[in-house]
Amino acid sequence: MHHDHLKPFPKNFLWGASTSAYQVEGAWNEDGKGMSVQDLTEPHDGITDFKVTSDHYHHMEEDVALMAELGLKAYRFSIAWTRILPEGVGKVNQKGIAFYDKLIDLLLENHIEPVVTIYHFDLPLALQKEGGWENRATIDAFVHFCHVLFKNFGKKVKYWLTINEQNMMVLHSSVLGTGEDVSEKSAYQQCHHMFVASSKAMALLHEMHPKCKIGPAPNITAIYPASSKPEDMAAAYEWSCLRNWLYYDAYVYGRYNPVVWAYFEEHDLCPTIEPGDMEAMRGGHPDYLGMNYYATETVQAPPADMEVSEGGDQQTTRGIPGMYESVPNPNLGKTQYGWTVDPVGLRNTLCQAASRYDLPILITENGLGQHDVLEADGSIHDDYRIDFLRKHYEQARLAINDGVDLIGFCPWSYIDLVSTHEGFNKRYGFVYVDRTEDDVKECKRYKKDSFDWYKKVIQTNGEDL
Ligand code: BG6
Repeated sequence: MHHDHLKPFPKNFLWGASTSAYQVEGAWNEDGKGMSVQDLTEPHDGITDFKVTSDHYHHMEEDVALMAELGLKAYRFSIAWTRILPEGVGKVNQKGIAFYDKLIDLLLENHIEPVVTIYHFDLPLALQKEGGWENRATIDAFVHFCHVLFKNFGKKVKYWLTINEQNMMVLHSSVLGTGEDVSEKSAYQQCHHMFVASSKAMALLHEMHPKCKIGPAPNITAIYPASSKPEDMAAAYEWSCLRNWLYYDAYVYGRYNPVVWAYFEEHDLCPTIEPGDMEAMRGGHPDYLGMNYYATETVQAPPADMEVSEGGDQQTTRGIPGMYESVPNPNLGKTQYGWTVDPVGLRNTLCQAASRYDLPILITENGLGQHDVLEADGSIHDDYRIDFLRKHYEQARLAINDGVDLIGFCPWSYIDLVSTHEGFNKRYGFVYVDRTEDDVKECKRYKKDSFDWYKKVIQTNGEDL
């Protein structure tokens, strides 16, 4: 839709930036922290582990000072479950509480709204050893963790996010730390338990702190049909149901998407649903939708002899026999790491989600992972990142004009951190961290050109992109 006159970004727009605990904090075994599934990662193929990462744990004051200089209005970060509950349940580690208390206080002192993700890929190892999300006990453990967080931080933190990218954990469990060789059946049983757990968490927050807001943070993207063939449209719609709408439907309406349920029945994937589960799912309501958006996908009806192929990551799947086959989109370029670049796709995705759910939306992730070069004078010229983000902000503004209630935009990531599976070479931040895959050096911070650009964007409330 063309708009003759563009409305500006809303006055209290949350100009933010994101990170997650296991990718940025380091200090993996300090001050009483227990082990998470991510701590099992060993350096491999020239890629670092998650033990030191950006060493944010020891640079926290400096990092918040830089956020203040940038003018951030919101900072999305996650709380490491094992810093609070080293064994996943049981005794609370007061040093963990103190760390996040200090971070939250510093943010608030600097007028930066904390947006807290409760769980971002770092399940406590102790729970994983007992079966992880396949074990129903993990539902109670999660709700207990939430209770501890809401009790300690609920008076200071207004915006909460339940589970980061539940859909990607289900679809790419080996990449995102929920286990090797997880069968599809098990993945959807785990998924069901996460639905019950997150609904209970939403209900709990509303009971304990009625003024706080909570929502999910799946990875959502528009799926395009490769042609105008009705069969390609069917493939695109079904994949979209399985990849996207299954999740938002469950969080918002407390029900299983019927197209997905038919797929489950066809393939013997229906999860076991215990009495009370659906009531629990219907009992939790998000106040807003978090949305991680990186790239769209284009698909066609699969050939009859399509083979099941393993692999792929958050943004690259190959297809599902009988449902869809991924194809390249000749209209779109790709990043250095093979992810499609589609700023207009952000507008498409936002409009689809807004018209399906009619809830405020917070973009919880979007950004460009690329190799950056630190020059001798300490500068980093990441004009490619500025270009990427500028185009996505332009489309976000158009989406607002299309009627989307967009409350904020938190690019991934505030600072360089360890990518989920591609180490430190793939950088996303406005702030550069001086380290390599195998030499952590002192993790000295440098401002990239995108830092100054984003500062100006925030100062002008998005007028000067
Ligand atoms: C999202 C995750 O999938 O994408 C982040 O929530 C992740 O944790 C981000 O870092 C970018 O992906 P990657 O694989 O490049 O780190």
